[in-house]
Amino acid sequence: MFDDTRRIITSTLDTQDIEMENNLRPKTMDKYIGQDKLKEKLLIYIQAAQNRGEPLDHCLFYGPAGLGKTTLAHIIANQTNKRIVITSGPAIERAADLAAVLTNMAEGEVLFIDEIHRLNHNVEEILYPALEDYALDFMVGRGPSAKSVRIPLSHFTLIGATTKAGKLSQPLRDRFGIKAKLEMYTPEQLAIIVNNSAQVLNIEIDQQSTTEIARRSRGTPRVANRLLKRTRDYAQIKGKGIIDIDITRYALNNMEIDELGLDNVDKAILYAIIDKFNGGPVGVESLSAMANEDVATIEDVYEPYLLQLGFIMRTPRGRVCLESAYKHLGREMSEWAKKQQNASSQDDE
Ligand SMILES: Nc1ncnc2c1ncn2[C@@H]1O[C@H](COP(=O)(O)OP(=O)(O)OP(=O)(O)O)[C@@H](O)[C@H]1O
Ligand SMILES: [Mg+2]
Repeated sequence: MFDDTRRIITSTLDTQDIEMENNLRPKTMDKYIGQDKLKEKLLIYIQAAQNRGEPLDHCLFYGPAGLGKTTLAHIIANQTNKRIVITSGPAIERAADLAAVLTNMAEGEVLFIDEIHRLNHNVEEILYPALEDYALDFMVGRGPSAKSVRIPLSHFTLIGATTKAGKLSQPLRDRFGIKAKLEMYTPEQLAIIVNNSAQVLNIEIDQQSTTEIARRSRGTPRVANRLLKRTRDYAQIKGKGIIDIDITRYALNNMEIDELGLDNVDKAILYAIIDKFNGGPVGVESLSAMANEDVATIEDVYEPYLLQLGFIMRTPRGRVCLESAYKHLGREMSEWAKKQQNASSQDDE
């Protein structure tokens, strides 16, 4: 495995990252760049619920890592002026842990469960009545004298976030009134984010460099912010303290981030498909072994962008490398690979 401590593209956050993310996280909807359709809808739902004097319906946000799910949950709580309680699927081990959290929620407060697809089954079961009827059902006693007791809860709003919507059980998914997929950001939107972050961090950066960093940030605000911070390091040590295009290019090349924002792991994935599996199809486990990267990171961080670029395709038989990836890497596609690709795209339909 790579040394993950100072990697640019990663799904894990170290303490420095968490601090940075909290600093740079926009606090209000108007500072939250992009996702325009979703923002518009949410503002309507929030306003309507407020007018009725009700809490906002439960929300599920899904999409690749670093696109702003957690940020959006904070903004919703902020917008409604309510406390947000933050936890995550793997952190809630027993049903009693969740019950304790739920009984402490007040009217309209937001419970944010990150990685909600990782809730265990027993915990999920007690969530169903909590979401639907704002109640907890408990069995008291054993054997024939056992009876079910219902404890009422305050009307809270659950916001669930996941990178793997497909892993959520159907009954849980059905209990969210609002479900939204976050989309990757355009370079123009990322440029605004880079600019705003530069202001917060007191970094001087010119327009051309902003554009360059935005373009190589693989559609992801978290990556844009990281590239900005690392480029500042280069500017400080190798340059004049301000970020200009020369130091930006130098920094990005030094970090081995290419023109499209691909790094060594992306390339290892593509080369593995091309060279070791003749263009694919290949299962994600084999890719994980070849690229020396864990399956979850490949699925949540790397693949979404390679799919978006049209460099790979997911088929029932595995991942296939597409012609544009060969072109980008300066490779010729073998006749065999072309045939495979056609066959794969047919059984994809
Ligand atoms: N729409 C946005 N506008 C401005 N900055 C954003 C936006 N979305 C995300 N960011 C920035 O990117 C960082 C990462 O976003 P966030 O933590 O919300 O992602 P996430 O979707 O929750 O990721 P993960 O799946 O890894 O939990 C934030 O700290 C924030 O600085
Ligand atoms: Mg998050």
